[in-house]
Amino acid sequence: MKFPMKRIYLKFLLMAALLPFPHALAQAATDDTFTPANPPEMKPMANHDTPAYRTLAWFQRGANLGDYLEANRRWRQLEVSADEFVQMKKEGFDHVRVPIGWHQYAGPGPEFTLEPEIFAKVDFVVTNALKNNLAVMINLHHFNALDQNPTHATAEFLKVWQQIATHYQAFPPQLIFELDNEPHDQATTALMNPIYAQTIKEIRQTNPQRTLVVEPGGWGGIGGLKDLVLPPDDNVIVSVHCYDPFNFTHQGATWTSGQTPVTGIVFPGPPAQPLVPDPKLQLKDYQLSWIEKYNTLPADKNPSSPLAFTGKFKYLRAWSDYYGRPIHLGEFGAYTKADGQSRANFYATFRQAVEAEKLGWCIWDWSGGFRYWDKQNNAPMPGMRAALFGKTK
Ligand code: BGC
Repeated sequence: MKFPMKRIYLKFLLMAALLPFPHALAQAATDDTFTPANPPEMKPMANHDTPAYRTLAWFQRGANLGDYLEANRRWRQLEVSADEFVQMKKEGFDHVRVPIGWHQYAGPGPEFTLEPEIFAKVDFVVTNALKNNLAVMINLHHFNALDQNPTHATAEFLKVWQQIATHYQAFPPQLIFELDNEPHDQATTALMNPIYAQTIKEIRQTNPQRTLVVEPGGWGGIGGLKDLVLPPDDNVIVSVHCYDPFNFTHQGATWTSGQTPVTGIVFPGPPAQPLVPDPKLQLKDYQLSWIEKYNTLPADKNPSSPLAFTGKFKYLRAWSDYYGRPIHLGEFGAYTKADGQSRANFYATFRQAVEAEKLGWCIWDWSGGFRYWDKQNNAPMPGMRAALFGKTK
């Protein structure tokens, strides 16, 4: 099965729930005149020449090794060979983000001992990446217990990180740890703040100098930054995810709970011929209204255009500069149901807009459903090399 059940998750139900109130979120994310609004405990760092900023310089152009170690271990389909890291480096990537479902390999509490099998798999990825001069970010991905009941799952979260931290304590600084992918539901930013602080303290026992990465709640969304409170540790990078314009990037995705069933959406809009959605899809008003705008608004006002993200990156730049915290855009991308030319246009435009604000980026993904690399042809997907690296050879 191409999309195992685990991928049909509730990410987008939450987004749907927010739809009646999109204004508040949009406000936080797109307002060019940035006004700091975090709780008062979030003190700006005076010095911007911190270890976190220095590490971010190694994490500028990355690929997520998606659909691999985070996927359900029984259903997993992708494998990764040592050659792919050689290729990744040759293409121009400088880092790889490795989503990992460590919890799938944890024994019972209170120890939650991780099976050697997962360390062997991660060691293979980490050593091959480092050997090819690729920096590596490993994370904990799809740890749903934390999203459902953060207070209850904190003990396991801490134990898992203690073990990972001990295992990798002697590894070079180009290996960094991202504590949790896309906290959501009950794992709000406000609830995650103290959990992050506690976990950072724990990891610091064995890894005093390791760079750590945290994401806000709301699926690592930009809107969550306003609630973030980080401890005064100068070696923490903040990472956010952005899949806008969502109707374009997730068109035809089976795991978005019916939010994005309409395919044939191009980037940038408007389309040459208006898109007429199949009435059988029984679209809701907000979906029809988006399509209406997509069909009719000129390029500079179209919802399938850079307008969907450029203002957000300006906000990120301003937030980062104010708080003295470097930002990494850890996931963006478009599913392969979009046409190849539109995908290439999108990756190029998005990548350039991120770079214009001097933020690091990491595509979703290397060779999975949003792929850059076509394993069958041993080559990048058409147009993707030029889109990301401005070169064709
Ligand atoms: C998820 C993937 C998904 C991607 C795009 C990631 O955070 O882990 O399963 O394909 O987002 O929706």
